[in-house]
Amino acid sequence: MSETEQKINNLRAEIERHNYNYYVLSQPEISDFEFDALLRSLQELEAAHPEFFDANSPTQRVGSDLQSDFKQVEHRYPMLSLSNTYSEDEVADFYDRVQKGLNEPFKIDCELKFDGVSISLTYHKGILVRAVTRGDGVRGDDVTANVRTIRSIPLRLNGSDFPEEFEIRGEILMPWPVFEDLNRERERQEEPLFANPRNATSGTIKLQNPAIVASRRLDAYFYYMMGGSLPTDSHFENLQLARKWGFKISEAMRRCSTMEEVSAFIHHWDVARKELPIATDGIVLKVDSLYQQRNLGFTAKSPRWAIAYKFQAERALTQLMSVSYQVGRTGAVTPVANLEPVLLSGTTVKRASLHNADIIAGLDLREGDFVYVEKGGEIIPKIVGVDTSKRVPGHLSEPVIFPDICPECSTPLVREEGEAAFYCPNERGCPPQIIGRIEHFFTRKAMNINAGSETAEQLFRSGLVEDVADLYDLTDMQLMQLERWAEKSIRNFLDSLERSKEVPFERVLFALGIRYVGETVAKRLAKSFLSIDNLAKASLEELSEVNEIGGSIAGSVVRFFEDEANRILIERLRTAGLQFSVDPSLLENQSDILNGKSIVISGTFQFHSRDEYKALIEQHGGKNTGSISSKTNYLLAGANMGPAKLEKAKKLGIEIIDEDTFLKMIE
Ligand code: IVH
Repeated sequence: MSETEQKINNLRAEIERHNYNYYVLSQPEISDFEFDALLRSLQELEAAHPEFFDANSPTQRVGSDLQSDFKQVEHRYPMLSLSNTYSEDEVADFYDRVQKGLNEPFKIDCELKFDGVSISLTYHKGILVRAVTRGDGVRGDDVTANVRTIRSIPLRLNGSDFPEEFEIRGEILMPWPVFEDLNRERERQEEPLFANPRNATSGTIKLQNPAIVASRRLDAYFYYMMGGSLPTDSHFENLQLARKWGFKISEAMRRCSTMEEVSAFIHHWDVARKELPIATDGIVLKVDSLYQQRNLGFTAKSPRWAIAYKFQAERALTQLMSVSYQVGRTGAVTPVANLEPVLLSGTTVKRASLHNADIIAGLDLREGDFVYVEKGGEIIPKIVGVDTSKRVPGHLSEPVIFPDICPECSTPLVREEGEAAFYCPNERGCPPQIIGRIEHFFTRKAMNINAGSETAEQLFRSGLVEDVADLYDLTDMQLMQLERWAEKSIRNFLDSLERSKEVPFERVLFALGIRYVGETVAKRLAKSFLSIDNLAKASLEELSEVNEIGGSIAGSVVRFFEDEANRILIERLRTAGLQFSVDPSLLENQSDILNGKSIVISGTFQFHSRDEYKALIEQHGGKNTGSISSKTNYLLAGANMGPAKLEKAKKLGIEIIDEDTFLKMIE
């Protein structure tokens, strides 16, 4: 194989991997800018070497987000993408091409490029009949049930001057404040965070439960109408009409007659977009007249009458001081760049994520390098490039090499197939993993033991505790010999260990720290399998049948119980008196009536204690949360509740219910 062919093959494989991360996993590892750069180098190589053409090359398709659980339907008109550019010169080239192609006066509509999930809606006689994702451009997922939950999408149109049958395309988005709320909640629940609103949106729109989708408060903007008999020849005018019919059409839209006006629009929104409540990543330019659009036509993949200009994400240049490697509770090794502090989008950045070994190798990173840090839609800044011109000539700099052994216990690291992260497999001998598990066991949502990370570390280092079962063998004599332990703290600690024996099974299951089994998954597993013995016997298939339990969770549970050491640990915990099955009295009177509902309890009550109300909410599928946010569905209000809470609930329009109403609801 020639060197060029090898290069083309490598690029194709790499791009396919990023496609999968982006469209299927919703977990991109690189920025759009980097992805576009990769795709462009492949396009160039393929153009120069047509002998290596391959119909399956990633340049020949638009990416797929198909998911098996939805009905797939063919688009009546394929959903094409736009050609895009990061350069204003190329926008001017586009303008010239249009001018030459049409050879008559024309107007260009400038719009924001919304950074969400594209959707195509079909309306028949003014009624929403279908909502389909882009999929591979030809076929997409029918997500109508989920889309119906989006408040800003009209189910029935206003007026009567709309075509009998038409499609309208737009972007589903999660506004920044909603995204931030959601991630805060996920952090509390120890669930993985969404990297940006787009990923959160695409994760949400593919949920199998429309009730949860509804609670995520998505939004949608529309920008493209198609059909046999659209009201006018002007794209701009048609969208103004669509606004009257009930669609959300951005006000940030301008019909321009010169390239100067186009440039002014770009410059204005490059800055002004930062004040918007939604993510945008560029400007879309479209020829206004539909007649002229038809005349210009399409290339194989995109229209000749439109182009997307993409904004450069905010970035700063700073020096890489060192790279540290952190080992987490699950053994995953995460590289973190320690940077010379630098100001970026209003905050000082000292550390940046390097994600994984591939990213480090791809950047050819050296210690002391000047690096670009970017904070695009992401919360954690990341390193996106190296300014190699700033390397001192003749000075041999050390490449950053991802360790092949664990920085904490020197065990050779492993990488599981299909995973980007390296793991230290020494679960039972690697200190941060053991300490992390003990610390996790202590947390309030797990066993609620009166201790934190320092105690976890001290107990482990003293040799008294090597796994969580050892905790229940501790005596006051042993603790007395440790530093900083007074009689009272010993009493408190041992008492809370004693009390933890009453902690319900679902929380014990969460406390075990099985990879991917967060609080919600633990609850679901406990509810479906009722005891640890049933769960330990469950096959991969049986596990996967449980709602929202995917393949990786199921696999992780099976592996956990295959490990003899884990089975011994569970037997020791059982002997210590922990709960390993669901309390049968709780199984009566269960329902799903509050599924997807988030309820805040406040004040004092007559018929039940607050804890009992909390249990009732959960028994009926709801979620009890601590503080009121725009995501709260009900405030269960008792006597003497704080005025601030009441005020906030009223302001956010949250339904306030009393004891009687609540008890009737779950009857
Ligand atoms: S027009 C045939 N307008 O960007 C052209 N697209 O790569 C139809 N997008 O798939 C698309 N904002 O998901 C258009 N104002 C806008 C847009 C927009 C965001 C997305 C859309 C499309 C992609 C183009």
